[in-house]
Amino acid sequence: MAPNSPTTSDRWTARQERGMDGLQLDRNAVIPPIGPTSCLIKMAAVSLNYRDVAMMTGAYPGRFEGSMVPCSDGAGTIIAIGSDVSLYKVGDRVCTLFSQGRQSGFVTPAIRETTLGNKLDGVLRRHAVFDETGLVAVPASLSLIEASTLPCAALTAWNALFGLEGRRLKAGDAVLAQGTGGVSLFAMQFALAAGATVIATTFSDTKAEKLRRELGVQHVVNYKTNKHWGETVRGFTPDQEGAHHIIEVGGENSMQQSLKAVRAEGVISVVGFLGGKPLAGQELCSFTDVLFIAAVVRGINIGSKEQFVAMDGFIDQYDIKPVVDEKIFKFAEAREAYQYLLDQRQWGRVVFSFD
Ligand SMILES: NC(=O)c1ccc[n+]([C@@H]2O[C@H](COP(=O)([O-])OP(=O)(O)OC[C@H]3O[C@@H](n4cnc5c(N)ncnc54)[C@H](OP(=O)(O)O)[C@@H]3O)[C@@H](O)[C@H]2O)c1
Repeated sequence: MAPNSPTTSDRWTARQERGMDGLQLDRNAVIPPIGPTSCLIKMAAVSLNYRDVAMMTGAYPGRFEGSMVPCSDGAGTIIAIGSDVSLYKVGDRVCTLFSQGRQSGFVTPAIRETTLGNKLDGVLRRHAVFDETGLVAVPASLSLIEASTLPCAALTAWNALFGLEGRRLKAGDAVLAQGTGGVSLFAMQFALAAGATVIATTFSDTKAEKLRRELGVQHVVNYKTNKHWGETVRGFTPDQEGAHHIIEVGGENSMQQSLKAVRAEGVISVVGFLGGKPLAGQELCSFTDVLFIAAVVRGINIGSKEQFVAMDGFIDQYDIKPVVDEKIFKFAEAREAYQYLLDQRQWGRVVFSFD
C-alpha cells in the first residue's frame, strides 16, 4: 500500500436471501492490497440501477452466493497505483467498467463472470481496488456524480444504438425508447444528438412534459392508456414506416407492440424485463411475427470498454448531461435509495454522493 493510503474503509454488503434487509453497512473493512496493475480509487459517487434493486427483491434472474459489495456504477479519483500501472496516474478521474473483463468485442461466458455488484464486489464502498483495465476515464465535461451514471445504463443505450455493424443509428432515423428509466433516457439523449426523431413512451403526463421540454423529445405516447401504442408510434415516424431502433425495456409484455412499431429491417434491442411475466391469457408475439416484419431482434449485454471510450467522446462532443434525480443520497442512506428506486419516484438516475 502506498504511504498515507487508507488501509480500511466503509462499505455496504448485500445478502440476496434476506431481501432489502440483506443490505448491511460494514465499517472499517480491510482494503485489499494494490497489485502491480491495479489502482486504489476514492469513490465519489455511485449510481443505482434497477438491477441492483431487483437483485434484492428477487426480480432479477441472476443470483449471487453469500455476501458481496453491491452496485456496478461508480466514479471516483485514483489515490494510489501499482508499480506497473501505465494507463492512469494518481489524481485521474475514472469510472468503473460494468464487466471488468470486457475490453472489446462480444460478450463471452468468461466475461459474464466479471460483472461488478454480482459476480465481483461492486462499488458501494468508500474505497475500492480495481485493475487498470477495469477503469475508464471520466469524460472531461462531466462531474463525478454525472459520470457515475455511465457504466451500465448509458453504455447499454450506446451499444443498442451504435453497437451493431451495419445498423448504427444515423441522422434522420426514428428511435422509440420505452419509459423514462436510465437506459431509455440515455438512448433519447444520444439519438437526439445524432439527429434522429425520438418517440418516447411513459405512463406519466408530468414526465411526458419533461421529455418534451427538458430533452426535446418530439413525440410521447402513454403506454398504459393507449394499449395499441405500437401503431401510434409507427404513425409518428417521419415516413410512417416504423422505427429504425427500439429500446425494448418492457420485455415479453411489450414486444408485441414493439413489433407493430418497428420498420422492416429495423432493430429491436431487447434490454429489460420491467413489464414482468405475461399475465394468463395475454396475447404475445410469435417468431412468425418477427419473420413477417423482418425485424432484427437483438439481446443486449451492456457493452465493452472500447464502446465506453467511444461513448465518452460523443458525450463530450455533444455536451450531453446525464439526467440525475434531484434527490442525491448520502453514503449511509443505501436502504432509502433502494426504496426510492423501488417506488419508482425518480426522474433520471438515483445517485449517491459520498462527500
Ligand atoms: N441488457 C442490459 O445490458 C441491461 C442494462 C441495463 C438495464 N437493463 C434492464 O433494462 C431495464 C431498464 O433498466 P433501467 O435502469 O433503465 O430501469 P429504471 O431506470 O428503473 O426504469 C424505470 C422506468 O421504466 C419505465 N417502465 C416501467 N415498466 C415499464 C413497462 N412495462 N414498459 C415500458 N416502460 C416501463 C417507467 O417509465 P415511466 O415512469 O416513464 O413510465 C419507469 O420509470 C431493466 O429491466 C434492467 O434490468 C438491462
